Amino acid sequence: MTKRVAIFISGGGSNMVSLAESMTGDHPARPCLVITNVPGAGGLEKARSMGIPTAVVDHRPFKGDRVAFEEELARVVDAAEPDILCLAGFMRVLTEGFVGRYTGRMLNIHPSLLPKYRGLHTHARALEAGDAEHGCTVHEVTPVLDDGPILGQARVPVLEGDTPELLAARVLVQEHRLYPAVLRRFAEGDRTPVLLS
Ligand code: GRF
Repeated sequence: MTKRVAIFISGGGSNMVSLAESMTGDHPARPCLVITNVPGAGGLEKARSMGIPTAVVDHRPFKGDRVAFEEELARVVDAAEPDILCLAGFMRVLTEGFVGRYTGRMLNIHPSLLPKYRGLHTHARALEAGDAEHGCTVHEVTPVLDDGPILGQARVPVLEGDTPELLAARVLVQEHRLYPAVLRRFAEGDRTPVLLS
């Protein structure tokens, strides 16, 4: 049975595009929804042009009531009946209540070699630490932020003269390789980590 994938975005959606483009041919999954908390998210138009159903659940009218926001988010997500949920640059922290609904079915991509640099500003933090390499991680989502079993990692070198922006661009190229590779393996029921360099 083909797996249905919901992709969560908050921005440009370049990871969403690489995931959606990968789900063709003999791939075991297909996108069923692109959902965002940001009404103007650039990725929305890209999803529409790819023929993927889209939805917006703006968090702002909920005025900090995370539970109410997540109830609405879950209602819209569940209506699309996804088997797998991919967070791809989704910039809201999700509570245990929401994450717990989808245990073992929700993935996230994070721009660092976890467990290093959970949270924000990962590229600047890797540079400040003088790291020789940096990268990205796809992991299963658990209630702890940027935690959960690692399903794949891709590495990049840190180069002389790097800025956070240069490093972020180098990591993003790897994100676009890693996330589709992990999703395919995960949709096939295989959780062996994908390791790219
Ligand atoms: C990516 O670097 C992702 O790892 C981070 O936010 C960025 C999203 O980019 N959490 P995009 O929306 O996929 O282009």
